[in-house]
Amino acid sequence: MAPPILVTGGTGTLGRHVVARLSDAGRDVRVLTRRGRPAEGGVEFVTGDLASGQGVERAVAGVETIVHCASSYRGDPGAARNLVRAASRAGRPHLVYISIVGVDRIPISSPIDRTMFGYYEAKRVTERVVTDSGLPWTTLRSTQFHDLILKVAQALARSPVMPVPAGFRFQPIEADEVAARLVELTLGTPAGLMPDVGGPRAYAAADLVRGYLRAAHRRRAVVPVPVPGKAARAVRGGANLAPEQAVGRRTWEEFLSDRVR
Ligand SMILES: NC(=O)c1ccc[n+]([C@@H]2O[C@H](COP(=O)([O-])OP(=O)(O)OC[C@H]3O[C@@H](n4cnc5c(N)ncnc54)[C@H](OP(=O)(O)O)[C@@H]3O)[C@@H](O)[C@H]2O)c1
Repeated sequence: MAPPILVTGGTGTLGRHVVARLSDAGRDVRVLTRRGRPAEGGVEFVTGDLASGQGVERAVAGVETIVHCASSYRGDPGAARNLVRAASRAGRPHLVYISIVGVDRIPISSPIDRTMFGYYEAKRVTERVVTDSGLPWTTLRSTQFHDLILKVAQALARSPVMPVPAGFRFQPIEADEVAARLVELTLGTPAGLMPDVGGPRAYAAADLVRGYLRAAHRRRAVVPVPVPGKAARAVRGGANLAPEQAVGRRTWEEFLSDRVR
């Protein structure tokens, strides 16, 4: 019997798909979550908190591979350090990490950069924690998931005027398509930094929001707002996009027609 695969963040948007796909592939899966629950269809839930390190030792015990999908709005290099420390003591499992396209190309050199893109900086530091961990590793960078863009559009639509960053484009991808690639890498051998994955096409931020408004039959004023700073300039130049790696098939419009009424 193959040892279980640990999925951190296995209750989240991406992690849920990863867990389902690993289970479908016949693997036993263990999920580390802050809110434990009884096992369900071959999936074991271990209560733990990567921020404090509590429960992490138990979660990594006996696993051969860890898919690290857990994340908070802070980006959490500290959580990754706790995970790596416990994993190194548990027998050097393969660590598979999900990062974001552009973390290496979006410079953070001022407070405004950090306010807008501090999460990217934290992900870049976390990538280094993985690379320097001494564990065999694989990292995949993805563009934004459809779910995230939808959440942002819904939040902005609470106001009658929706400010969107002028000149920003995004290349949203279906989380399950990212999960499919991540599972392929998880079931393979450690491969280091992999080619990016992105959605089928890039859209202006204003067009993504307008697409949402159309699908939701809502009317709002969409106002492009200039964003200062070097990080924003890099994003306007497309540093967050992966045009050569547009491997996702499902479009924003298809996602909206399923998810928005
Ligand atoms: N969203 C995007 O557009 C996007 C794009 C590219 C890459 N990514 C990366 O993909 C990963 C998953 O993103 P997502 O949007 O699927 O995340 P999400 O839906 O926000 O889920 C976050 C997960 O992290 C877990 N978590 C948070 N803090 C934790 C802690 N202290 N200890 C243990 N678990 C903790 C949560 O589990 P519990 O609440 O059950 O504890 C939850 O399952 C992240 O690394 C993100 O940076 C996301």
